[in-house]
Amino acid sequence: MAPISFSSSSSILAATICLAFILHQAQAQLSATFYATTCPNVSTIVSNVIQQALQSDIRIAASLIRLHFHDCFVNGCDASVLLNDSSSIQSEKNAVPNFNSARGFDVVDNIKTAVENACPGVVSCADILALAAESSVSLSGGPSWNVLLGRRDSLTANQSGANTSIPTPFESLSNITSKFSQSVSTQRISSRYLVHRIRNILKFQYFQISAHTFGRAQCRFFSGRLYNFSGTGNPDPTLNTSYLATLQQICPQNGSGTALTNLDPATPNAFDNNYFTNLQNNQGLLQTDQELFSTSGAATISIVNNFASSQTAFFQSFAQSMINMGNISPLTGSSGEIRSDCKKVNGS
Ligand code: HEM
Ligand SMILES: *[C@@H]1O[C@H](CO)[C@@H](O)[C@H](O)[C@H]1NC(C)=O
Ligand SMILES: *[C@@H]1O[C@H](CO)[C@@H](O)[C@H](O)[C@H]1NC(C)=O
Ligand SMILES: *[C@@H]1O[C@H](CO)[C@@H](O)[C@H](O)[C@H]1NC(C)=O
Ligand SMILES: *[C@@H]1O[C@H](CO)[C@@H](O)[C@H](O)[C@H]1NC(C)=O
Ligand SMILES: *[C@@H]1O[C@H](CO)[C@@H](O)[C@H](O)[C@H]1NC(C)=O
Ligand SMILES: *[C@@H]1O[C@H](CO)[C@@H](O)[C@H](O)[C@H]1NC(C)=O
Ligand SMILES: *[C@@H]1O[C@H](CO)[C@@H](O)[C@H](O)[C@H]1NC(C)=O
Ligand SMILES: *[C@@H]1O[C@H](CO)[C@@H](O)[C@H](O)[C@H]1NC(C)=O
Repeated sequence: MAPISFSSSSSILAATICLAFILHQAQAQLSATFYATTCPNVSTIVSNVIQQALQSDIRIAASLIRLHFHDCFVNGCDASVLLNDSSSIQSEKNAVPNFNSARGFDVVDNIKTAVENACPGVVSCADILALAAESSVSLSGGPSWNVLLGRRDSLTANQSGANTSIPTPFESLSNITSKFSQSVSTQRISSRYLVHRIRNILKFQYFQISAHTFGRAQCRFFSGRLYNFSGTGNPDPTLNTSYLATLQQICPQNGSGTALTNLDPATPNAFDNNYFTNLQNNQGLLQTDQELFSTSGAATISIVNNFASSQTAFFQSFAQSMINMGNISPLTGSSGEIRSDCKKVNGS
């Protein structure tokens, strides 16, 4: 379908037609009570394992929500990101956005083990990722939401899809918008959403990038901004000069590129709306973060200002957009399977 822009009414019409199609196609919906009789304590079990993991690794919360994102953007939320290489699988773990970057797989395995001990063969790995994302955010001070459940696990991975569907930190605002609109077009948006709200859905979907309010990034993902930005011979002009000096210390010009720094320099481990204040101060770490505020004339600027001034508004939009992301083409009913080991397809 045509990319959706925030302002074009013909694109909105196209999106409306797509949405009508999606609603028509909607099959089994996910449900917050899916495991009410078969695994009533699943949320608590997931949360307990994450609390345990946080004791030794405060970053794990950020790493886990990122796994859910990288899962959902490739063939939908089906745990395809968790499959290891095998004779028939080219693992998404080795795709560009994940290789030497995605982490938390061992904690997902620990969660799966704990859940299997309580309710064997019942809870999918895809649902574990969705539950882990919510727990990670709420345990870090962010919002809670009712996680919709009932996803099943894929029998395949899509490495080339992971290479192309997950945005890179070097893209323009309009390119990123088009990747997010592709994802929105495949979501099972509940019918209580009036079609004219598609514009808002897309707009807020983009702001999931504000999950960069916690976690870390390696120099190689932003060092292009520090010395010779786009061949200009100068740093990215949208970088705050004192923040630039700090980043140049952390990422020397000929360094290995694997040094880590905080995505949110102000409150590195808290899920809060400081991300937006950072953008207002030209302290967005990734080019794609700062673009939300520094792209001239962009519709996103006023939303940054709104979320910087109201954490409540931000939390509400973030929670809703996570529910929307979790609705990206799940496998339901008898499609796929409930994996017993998240790393491999059953019987392989
Ligand atoms: C424009 C879209 C996005 C781009 C270009 C992007 C890019 C990146 C990059 C380059 C990193 C650093 C990885 C590393 O250094 O190994 C990162 C980390 C992270 N991303 Fe994103 N991301 C985007 C959207 C999102 C979304 C939608 C979420 C969640 C809903 C998210 C959550 C995170 C988190 C929490 C981290 C820190 C992970 C950790 O510390 O392990 N990102 N992202
Ligand atoms: C759920 O957890 C509570 C305590 O957290 C426990 O009392 C209860 O037995 C558990 N229920 C099941 C079905 O495991
Ligand atoms: C699965 O892949 C992960 C990440 O690439 C790796 O660390 C792990 O050793 C692999 N596990 C098995 C059983 O192959
Ligand atoms: C994904 O990208 C990497 C790096 O460019 C490449 O080596 C790999 O072959 C790609 N995978 C597929 C399936 O296209
Ligand atoms: C892999 O992902 C790409 C991009 O999202 C998609 O176009 C393609 O249909 C997927 N392939 C399979 C076999 O699912
Ligand atoms: C945007 O996407 C187009 C088409 O895929 C590509 O040619 C261009 O290089 C991208 N631009 C940026 C800045 O990412
Ligand atoms: C910056 O990069 C451009 C293009 O790669 C190159 O021609 C130029 O020499 C570089 N400038 C400096 C100061 O390194
Ligand atoms: C980085 O390496 C280049 C040659 O590869 C050299 O000209 C330059 O002086 C080095 N810069 C620093 C800061 O070490
Ligand atoms: C740079 O950041 C500081 C806070 O560290 C802030 O006071 C200042 O206004 C910022 N400058 C710009 C140009 O955004």
